[in-house]
Amino acid sequence: VRRPKISVIGAGFTGASTAVFAAAKGLGDIVLLDIPQRENYAKGVALDLVESTPILNTDVTITGTADYADTAGSDLVIITAGVPRKPGMSREDLISTNAGIVKSVTEQVVKYSPNAFIIVLTNPVDSMTYVAYRVSGFPKNRVFGQSGVLDTARYRTFLAHELRVSVSDITAFVLGGHGDDMVPLVRYTYAGGIPVAKLLPKETIDRIVERTRKGGGEIVNLMGTSAGYAPGASLVEMAEAVLKNRRRILPAIAYLDGEYGYRDIYMGVPTIIGGDGLESVIEVDLTPEEKAALDKSAEGVARTIAFVKENVLK
Ligand code: APR
Repeated sequence: VRRPKISVIGAGFTGASTAVFAAAKGLGDIVLLDIPQRENYAKGVALDLVESTPILNTDVTITGTADYADTAGSDLVIITAGVPRKPGMSREDLISTNAGIVKSVTEQVVKYSPNAFIIVLTNPVDSMTYVAYRVSGFPKNRVFGQSGVLDTARYRTFLAHELRVSVSDITAFVLGGHGDDMVPLVRYTYAGGIPVAKLLPKETIDRIVERTRKGGGEIVNLMGTSAGYAPGASLVEMAEAVLKNRRRILPAIAYLDGEYGYRDIYMGVPTIIGGDGLESVIEVDLTPEEKAALDKSAEGVARTIAFVKENVLK
């Protein structure tokens, strides 16, 4: 019997956080890969982390490397490699740079781990997941992206704190692209089985929805860099759903082929994630207002995907 092998590409803030949460759960052996200039950093993170395993009481191995041969035979690969948007950098520049990175990473992943599941985090994540899908040639159930678990975790946190109840008792999901246009669905948000609209005034919920939409920016404003802990925890929740075949209902960035009326696009929707990866998309009824909000979000995602098709995938 061998432990699952998880490779995390990009050993920056999010990659390292992902490794921490995965190690703490003893989810599998972990390989942290970064570019050659950052190989020693990746090795240092791996060593620091493996030295915590006696205390965490887990027996996983953690390897830092710049060599894809070390990732060979991974069951699951998480892509966090990318650059953050720097001052003066246009949105298009960021998309081109990160799409180039995700493309080259995916080529190596396919070469060394042809049977792996791929979970993408690199932003803009909807279109970067599309790049990984097209470049890998893997079936759609094996390539999906993370954004909804994180957005929902933020939404659940704010609601639980407002209600002064356990975060575990709030269930919810968000639809759409990862960004200010995401669509948190209040109608489908529950606290212990009770619709939150029955527990909180509309203004309070509206304020929380708005804070959720801008949750990424709130962290950047405070830290001067993008979030890492909650994204890492979100990636591990998805990885665990696959590696333990939990068939969790989780919002994820899925390839849509007619679902919700969209085609050839990756976008956030409720899904079932289990041992076969992203096993299915769940379609829920939407009010005309919700559908309009989702259409707006989908338009933005479709534009970015069109740009990537034109400039990176041709
Ligand atoms: N191969 C492997 N690693 C790479 C590559 C590459 N081609 N290019 C860049 N990296 C590495 C960087 O060297 C860095 O260590 O990816 C890591 C990114 O880490 P951070 O800069 O700390 O960024 P992080 O906060 O982890 O965010 C990563 O997630 O939230 C998104 O927008 C964010 O796209 C970004 C990604």
